[in-house]
Amino acid sequence: MIDLHSHVLPGIDDGVRTIEASLELLRAAAGDGIDRIAATPHVREDYPTTPREMELRLADLCGAAREAAIPVEVLGGAELDLAFAARLEDDDLRRFGLGGNPSLLLLEFPYLGWPLPLADLVFDLQLRGYRVVLAHPERNADVQLDPERLRPLVDNGVVVQLTAASLDGRLGGAPRAAARRLLDARLAHLVASDAHAPDVRSVGLSGAARASGDEALAQWLTEQVPDALLAGRPLPERPESPKRRFLRRQA
Ligand SMILES: [Fe+2]
Repeated sequence: MIDLHSHVLPGIDDGVRTIEASLELLRAAAGDGIDRIAATPHVREDYPTTPREMELRLADLCGAAREAAIPVEVLGGAELDLAFAARLEDDDLRRFGLGGNPSLLLLEFPYLGWPLPLADLVFDLQLRGYRVVLAHPERNADVQLDPERLRPLVDNGVVVQLTAASLDGRLGGAPRAAARRLLDARLAHLVASDAHAPDVRSVGLSGAARASGDEALAQWLTEQVPDALLAGRPLPERPESPKRRFLRRQA
């Protein structure tokens, strides 16, 4: 599996504090079946991470992971605050490209409220040539009330990433219900851990994949879509639901 959201770089944001804890997180990820993970430190007012800081810590962690023979490839990236991202130059944005893809950006969806300029900010980034992935909109109360609010963005090519712990209920009922509604409405495209600590519960993707209730869909959410995003390919078609497959066979 491929995990395109984690706070695995040590001492840079509210994620992992030490390199030992980073390695522990990577071991837990490997144990869960993850072979590629993007390090996506916060880039926002309270954590104004620079591309250089991310790159230096990433190089250190990759070296340490190699030395420790942990079979997980750690890729670069950032979780960019919307307004902060809009102010960054292209050179910085490209260096923050998700998973090392310079034209792919992970944007942090706000937890509270629906910022009026959201669609404009996203559209401006798209006009500048970036493909936008929105992180965990299912944790936002407005989206929980009305998941369809995301439809215009998705119709415009925005990719929606759910947090694994939302989908399998670890974050509570409201995020779980919203995540499921987004999935059912075909308004979500991939699942990621957003892991901040090395404990297995916060790292795993496999539990959420199982919670999607359909193996082909789980694979699409955790492997095929993230792989296409990293490679800059169009998204693969979503597999038919088991019910539709069954009905088609009966027809
Ligand atoms: Fe995050």
